[in-house]
Amino acid sequence: MQQEIIAYYDRLAPTYDASRFENSYGRFIDARERALLRAWLPANATSILELGCGTGRLSGFATIATDASTASLALARTRETATRFAAADAEHLPLPSAAFDAVFAFHLLMHIETTAIHNIFGEAARVLRPGGVLIADIVSRTRRNLTGERRVATHAWHGATALTPQEFEAAGRAAGFNPLKMTGLLFLPVHRLPERARQPLARLDGWLAGRWPSLSSYLVACFEKP
Ligand SMILES: C[S@@+](CC[C@H](N)C(=O)[O-])C[C@H]1O[C@@H](n2cnc3c(N)ncnc32)[C@H](O)[C@@H]1O
Repeated sequence: MQQEIIAYYDRLAPTYDASRFENSYGRFIDARERALLRAWLPANATSILELGCGTGRLSGFATIATDASTASLALARTRETATRFAAADAEHLPLPSAAFDAVFAFHLLMHIETTAIHNIFGEAARVLRPGGVLIADIVSRTRRNLTGERRVATHAWHGATALTPQEFEAAGRAAGFNPLKMTGLLFLPVHRLPERARQPLARLDGWLAGRWPSLSSYLVACFEKP
């Protein structure tokens, strides 16, 4: 499974940004995720690790960004020259323990099985210093169950893993984290709204998603290593 996922992202790398984020829906998600990282990454963090960085969309927030897709990393390196990049399986990080103030991962956990999520949480806990934070997202299982939303995916693993807020927090606790805060992302059915209405509704969407994370499309959580 892991190899299939990485091979997929190696093939997709040249068109990933254009196909996913160069439209008003993608720009909406991107803006919300950047706002969350700005708000939640500790202001005094000097070492920040990104997992599953892909082509580097959010890697400007990281000091080191990692991914298992070498084709994605090659593009990321040209995009963010101030960030260090390394090929790494997020389940087995070739990085020292207690070396980072923050770790973040977007659009990674939703594609992998729960055992791999637990392994990644364990690695994040290992490489973080005490007091460091992990910020990550996952598909909201509550919303998926409620809406009966059918995934439109060409591969069975794509976006297949969804958790409730309780399950997401439990995964963090199992790795020794304290859940600090959680919000939602995409409360409104943004993909059904006219393009022109999307950005103006971002603040409202942020407010609704913050109030009812589980009813949003995605959960974004911040965990602290004690
Ligand atoms: C949907 S992309 C997200 C990229 C980037 N985080 C973003 O939000 O634009 C998922 C990325 O996770 C990477 N990935 C999947 N499983 C991984 C693993 N076990 N270790 C490291 N990277 C992995 C893929 O190669 C791919 O680049």
